Parts: sequence; C-alpha cells; structure tokens
Amino acid sequence: MIVKSLDHLNKISEIILKKLDKKDCLFLIGEIGVGKTTLTRYLINNLQKQKGLSQTEVLSPTFNLLYEYEISDFKIMHYDLYRIKETKELKHLGIFSEELDAVKIVEWPDLIKTPLQDKLEVYLRYGEKENERKIEFKGLGKWENFKNEI
Ligand SMILES: Nc1ncnc2c1ncn2[C@@H]1O[C@H](COP(=O)(O)OP(=O)(O)O)[C@@H](O)[C@H]1O
Ligand SMILES: [Mg+2]
Repeated sequence: MIVKSLDHLNKISEIILKKLDKKDCLFLIGEIGVGKTTLTRYLINNLQKQKGLSQTEVLSPTFNLLYEYEISDFKIMHYDLYRIKETKELKHLGIFSEELDAVKIVEWPDLIKTPLQDKLEVYLRYGEKENERKIEFKGLGKWENFKNEI
C-alpha cells in the first residue's frame, strides 16, 4: 500500500490505534529515515488526543534505547534497538519482555526472538516521491487479518 503523505501516515496511525490494546507489540521495520519514529509519534500523539491529554514531544530513543509514555490507562514503551548488536546484550539490559504490561513499539526489532502472541509488524520502504512511502503489514494473533482491514 502506498502512503501518499505524512497526513496519510497520520490517518493510518489512527486505524492502528482503533485496534490497539494495552499489551500489544508493534515492530517497525525499515531503513533509516523511512518513518518509524514518525509513525510512533503519530500513534502516541493521537492516543494522547483521544484521552483528552495534551500532546507531548516524541523523540527518537536512538541513544536512550527506550522512552516511556503514560497515557491515561495506557503505558507505551518506545524502543530503538539499532545500537544493540547481540541478543544477549538485550537480555542483559532487561528492557524488553513480552510480559510487560505496556504497548511495546520497537524500531529495529531484529534481535527480539521471543515468540509473541499479538504482534503487528509494520514494514516501511521509500516510495517514488519524496513524501511517499510504501507500507505493508504482517500480523500475528489478533493482528493476523489487519492487512485486509486497512
Ligand atoms: N509519508 C511519510 N511517512 C513517513 N515519514 C515521512 C513521510 N514523508 C516525509 N517523511 C519524513 O521522513 C522522515 C522520517 O524520519 P524518521 O521517522 O525519524 O525515520 P526512522 O525512525 O525510520 O529513521 C521525517 O523527517 C518525516 O517528516
Ligand atoms: Mg527512528
């Protein structure tokens, strides 16, 4: 599917949000600058809007690995694992677990090998035009049919 603009990506984030539950896992896959953090920002800001809260800054956790957001009854954990090179490093840090009572949004999730129940993988690629992207979805569990619903 083609994402025509930032505004279009924002609309897609709202469709994802409709289905999002408190312990879901979103893996964002694609090269640098393709829009993983931007999609996360839309998800977080739209959830804040829905809950009647003011929208906060959503920065890339490139150096911190993780930023957390408390949004009413939701907790969002936004990871960027680009700098992690080995699974054991990730285990050692103890920052990711599928058991966490939070929505886990993960950029560069390649090292996460644990099987997850309800997971949406979002694949992003550059498009032909500057503000165009290509997006594909692969879901597990409750997300399995999402690609047909959007
Ligand atoms: N349709 C689009 N979808 C996503 N990002 C877009 C789009 N058009 C332009 N951009 C721009 O591309 C950049 C994506 O950066 P970012 O979200 O940080 O990427 P990543 O986290 O994948 O490295 C942002 O500057 C954003 O404004
Ligand atoms: Mg990013």
